[in-house]
Amino acid sequence: MSTSLEMKNIQKFYGPLHVVKDFDLHIQPGEFVTFLGPSGSGKTTALKMIAGFETPTSGDIFLGTRSIVDLPAYERGIGMVFQNYALFPHMTVAENVAFPLTVRKTPRKDVEEKLAKALQLVKMDQYSSRYPNQLSGGQQQRIALARAIVFNPSILLMDEPLGALDRNLREHMKIEIMRIQKELNMTVVFVTHDQDEALTMSDRIAVINEGRLVQVDDSKGLYSKPKNRFVASFVGESNMIPCRVDEAENGAGKVTMAGISTCSAQLTGQSQGDDGWLFVRPEHIDITPVSTSSEALNSVAGVIENVLFLGEMTRYHIRCGDETIIAKRQNRGQPHYTGGTSVTVSWKPEHCVMLN
Ligand SMILES: Nc1ncnc2c1ncn2[C@@H]1O[C@H](COP(=O)(O)OP(=O)(O)OP(=O)(O)O)[C@@H](O)[C@H]1O
Ligand SMILES: [Mg+2]
Repeated sequence: MSTSLEMKNIQKFYGPLHVVKDFDLHIQPGEFVTFLGPSGSGKTTALKMIAGFETPTSGDIFLGTRSIVDLPAYERGIGMVFQNYALFPHMTVAENVAFPLTVRKTPRKDVEEKLAKALQLVKMDQYSSRYPNQLSGGQQQRIALARAIVFNPSILLMDEPLGALDRNLREHMKIEIMRIQKELNMTVVFVTHDQDEALTMSDRIAVINEGRLVQVDDSKGLYSKPKNRFVASFVGESNMIPCRVDEAENGAGKVTMAGISTCSAQLTGQSQGDDGWLFVRPEHIDITPVSTSSEALNSVAGVIENVLFLGEMTRYHIRCGDETIIAKRQNRGQPHYTGGTSVTVSWKPEHCVMLN
């Protein structure tokens, strides 16, 4: 049975250091939510408070309708996978995976059954008599996962479980974790500072910066409608040009880009005179030869500075006044521009948002 998880106005101080601030988050039963943020932003601390390894300074945490902040970790029924496997080296795979059942005094017959099921789920049933040091990193991580889910936890927490694996293994484990989560319909909180991991695996992503939830949304929402400059630059690649609002009306405005030109953009609460950042994704930047371009509002003159062929697409760095604008164009027989070419760079007003 999957369970909902709710964090209500959670604060955590270490002495004077305020490391988790105003956390309000409701996670649905069966939902896969990722905490995404830079190093030191408070991801592990938030996870530890859910698991019961740290106590919130204030606030409440609910599993379903039950408050768990006063319960010790072992009574919360939560599974946890850490970054560094943390298997018991002197125990076999079977003993490691069965450990949570042993401490819960599960009857022997049930232990056998649950152990076999968990090992099958992570495709490690052939390895039950090996010791951890006889397994590869990816295999150890699968055993750690089996141990975390063997007792049917109401919710599974994973703290950078793929961090120690090489790229290929990481890709593979990503898919395995998603498969197991779907198969068991488990509520999962996953921690990473890798945006690709977050974007591909999660139902929703909670972006954390300096202890605060900056934005909680699905991958598409985060990518297309980042709330501020931090989210825009942390998720995907973006152009971010300093600008000031000249005119504002009904959420749209004319803005001046420092040292370049004027442009119309969607505003996110700014008024006339406000400074901020003009945000456009590289795939929404068009490049045209100078001769064919008109003096349209959202276009600026530039010179191709750098051309990077990436196979299916090309990445251009275009020098426009004081700024370098990045454009990504699909390679589908369009004209290729070479370094030093003068061009016009343009974008549609609906693809350009002013952020703070
Ligand atoms: N036990 C502790 N005592 C004092 N400060 C701590 C303690 N644990 C963590 N911190 C501080 O709290 C802040 C958040 O740490 P946390 O481990 O939650 O970050 P994180 O987002 O998990 O980072 P990383 O991506 O590097 O794992 C950091 O500034 C850290 O130094
Ligand atoms: Mg951490």
